[in-house]
Amino acid sequence: MSQEKKFQLSKNELNVQFDNIDKIKSIYEKKYKDKTLLAHVHSYGCQQNVSDGEKIKGMLALMGYGFCDSPDEADLVIYNTCAVRENAEDRVFGNVGALKHKKRRNPDMLIGLCGCMTQQEHIAEKIKKSYPHVDFVFGTHALPKLPEIMYDAIKQNKRIFDINEYDDEIVEGIPIQRDQTFKAWLPIMYGCNNFCTYCIVPYVRGRERSRTSAEIVKEFKGLVAQGYKEITLLGQNVNSYGKGLEEDINFSQLLRMLNEVKGDFRIRFMSSHPKDATKELIDAIADCDKVCKHFHLPVQCGSDRILQLMNRHYTIESYMELIDYARKKVPDIAFTSDIIVGFPQEKYEDFKQTVELVKKVRFDSIFSFIYSKRVGTKAAEMEDPISVEEKSNWFQELLETQRSIGKERYKECVGKTYRILVEGEGKTGAEYLTGRNDGYMIVDFKGEQNLIGQFVNVKITQALNWALLGEIVE
Ligand code: 5AD
Ligand code: SF4
Repeated sequence: MSQEKKFQLSKNELNVQFDNIDKIKSIYEKKYKDKTLLAHVHSYGCQQNVSDGEKIKGMLALMGYGFCDSPDEADLVIYNTCAVRENAEDRVFGNVGALKHKKRRNPDMLIGLCGCMTQQEHIAEKIKKSYPHVDFVFGTHALPKLPEIMYDAIKQNKRIFDINEYDDEIVEGIPIQRDQTFKAWLPIMYGCNNFCTYCIVPYVRGRERSRTSAEIVKEFKGLVAQGYKEITLLGQNVNSYGKGLEEDINFSQLLRMLNEVKGDFRIRFMSSHPKDATKELIDAIADCDKVCKHFHLPVQCGSDRILQLMNRHYTIESYMELIDYARKKVPDIAFTSDIIVGFPQEKYEDFKQTVELVKKVRFDSIFSFIYSKRVGTKAAEMEDPISVEEKSNWFQELLETQRSIGKERYKECVGKTYRILVEGEGKTGAEYLTGRNDGYMIVDFKGEQNLIGQFVNVKITQALNWALLGEIVE
């Protein structure tokens, strides 16, 4: 995780890797002739990780791999892991363990692990010792080096581990094989400098660094030209976009720039740190017609005392000021949030303040988590006397609170008409499609399959517990 020495990526890294791709390709052509090898790549965790997974697939596609949804028929399995909570790590270990038998049946099968979890030294060590069937392991920093790592593993027939912290240079131009044809992830920055005391991300994804606006606009326009209808700008804290760049630009300006691109599409972004969210950004959301009127603003907790222990650098008062300003500027704006329950030293009184905040803001939805201790973080050193059972009770209380608020919010939508991007088949029943409105609410309605990937207007007729029901209108 925290190694002293910084490693350099070659100035010519992309070309070095394209050479490795060619070398792997020619080995495979000799060995497997016309057979198309299949890769199963699974990304756990956040959209940033899913976006990394698309780069992994982009490189594998150039090596000649096709892709499959299950590890059963795969010649290569790559798990792109998440370290944010313990249960994410447990799931990966379970799935990697299960690959042992598959590899026994197919000894030529290659198994690789990468992502946030493997960037941690203690995890890489555990894989080295206890999971001998894993052929190669690389951290988030070494992602551009995948072809070289695979070539070394194949050529030398030995296990390769690369969890070096390469310098924070961004390697542009890595090929991308996107999972979807109408929704795309577009990373605008990498890494995180915030060191919230519970969070592993700054340790496993390195320091914050932004892509130039020229690179972002180029990729963005390319996506629009290919017909993408929803582009989500990604960063651990998009509000600090632009810091450290030679050009003078911030996130609000970037949003305005992208909003100018011609075409029928919408823009989302995530995530925002409340300490860096500004009125300027809210003004940009208000002014930009293509930017969704949805603000994901993780508050984490409703108690100032705990926020301080979390190293969050804002108060509930300043958070509420932002919410109030946004609601004034953009009356129908949707708010969603992340909340951690049971942070070390959190008392029931603190938790109650979280419940109060949730009631006050009336979020459209929240993603809530029970605190999970992460090795190497500051919070891991803090006393944590509350039992898991008690934290689970609190968690249930929070879920109940949000459930009834969500229900009310849904009811308020009945009779309104929303522009929906149709995403696929709905769960409501046969003939139903599903999509999301601007505010990220799930909406089901009857319609033909050929509408998937298109925008439609839907009038809401009914509020279910988990979605809205509606019908297509002109
Ligand atoms: N335990 C529980 N939840 C966490 N998150 C981040 N780290 C932890 C942790 N150690 C949550 C935060 C963050 C979201 C992506 O995951 O709420 O916003
Ligand atoms: Fe994403 Fe954080 Fe999980 Fe890494 S640890 S995949 S950054 S959620």
